[in-house]
Amino acid sequence: MATTGTTPPAKMRALQYDSCGEGAAGLKHVEVPVPTAKKNEVLLKLQAATVNPVDWKIQKGDMRPLLPRRLPFIPVTDVAGEVVDVGPGVKDLTAGDQVVAMLNSLNGGGLAEYVVAPANMTVKRPSAVSAAEGAGIPIAAGSALKSLRSIGAKFDGTGKPLNVLITAASGGVGLYAVQLAKMANLHVTATCGAGNMDLVRSLGADEVMDYETPEGVSLQSPSGKKYDGVVHCTVGVSWSTFRPLLSSRGKVVDLTPNLSAILTSGLHKVTFAKKSVVPLFLRLNKADLEFLVGLLEEGKLKTVIDSRFPLSEASKAWQTSIDGHPTGKIVVEMEG
Ligand SMILES: NC(=O)c1ccc[n+]([C@@H]2O[C@H](COP(=O)([O-])OP(=O)(O)OC[C@H]3O[C@@H](n4cnc5c(N)ncnc54)[C@H](OP(=O)(O)O)[C@@H]3O)[C@@H](O)[C@H]2O)c1
Repeated sequence: MATTGTTPPAKMRALQYDSCGEGAAGLKHVEVPVPTAKKNEVLLKLQAATVNPVDWKIQKGDMRPLLPRRLPFIPVTDVAGEVVDVGPGVKDLTAGDQVVAMLNSLNGGGLAEYVVAPANMTVKRPSAVSAAEGAGIPIAAGSALKSLRSIGAKFDGTGKPLNVLITAASGGVGLYAVQLAKMANLHVTATCGAGNMDLVRSLGADEVMDYETPEGVSLQSPSGKKYDGVVHCTVGVSWSTFRPLLSSRGKVVDLTPNLSAILTSGLHKVTFAKKSVVPLFLRLNKADLEFLVGLLEEGKLKTVIDSRFPLSEASKAWQTSIDGHPTGKIVVEMEG
């Protein structure tokens, strides 16, 4: 039997698309029934959501035939809100809890006033963390965390002082990656646009290169360091560029691997290559989400917000992400 807090209305506002390939213009404002929390789910009244590049890539059709699973589709997975109803089997969350959640990308649902979230990917949000800051976390900080761990970063003080390169350090993933890498005592070389170099430095990067200069294009560390790991958040850099920049067991974690990177990665795996490229396929768990939200609470991690849009203007948030130049996270707020 579900437990109920504030009674939700029968209908809610949402944005959905009913075909792929239409970009921001394809997002339609609709009124749809408020979903119901089933076993191991919670119903959230949303306060904020963030748009990630994967959201519009799914709409573009890049992940067909897997995603979108059905049309029409309410996109977005990274959200923060208040629990208003709890489905059977949920033990650690109750109505009234403020939370951050990562929705299943098969279901989406984040560009709406209410959504059903899996309880095992919903964590409590401390009062020191705003809804917008919390909603920035799941995909972006989660990818930064997983990439750094895969390179060998440790967050308990036991790690080696590795050298890492973070490309697109001013983006949603990159800004979290810089901060997390410094927390793990890594030496950080970063690339970003000229206008963001001071910001990236202020978050801890040791060396920052403008990606539009020859130095930035070369990706070589200005101090001559070889990289033990690369958190690669841009596209268009080949393995032959990375290879000579790596230390003897250096690893490139490619967040947007093309076919060539996937094939190269397969080859590295079967040949037990010392230097390697690995694609990131994000799989986050509740403990990771709790860890990251905890860092926000402690003030050790910061969500940099590029822009905020009300739900009524969420198509502008969508377009901002498609344009590809946000500095940090693009937030949609549900009031308004
Ligand atoms: N595999 C996975 O599970 C996974 C998970 C998360 C993200 N991703 C992918 O990772 C990529 C990054 O995600 P994101 O959320 O960080 O994207 P984002 O926030 O849209 O990144 C935008 C940033 O990238 C910078 N940038 C663009 N081209 C650059 C270049 N050549 N060199 C350096 N900086 C550059 C931009 O700087 P300017 O404004 O100065 O141009 C901007 O600040 C996306 O392709 C995303 O789909 C994959």
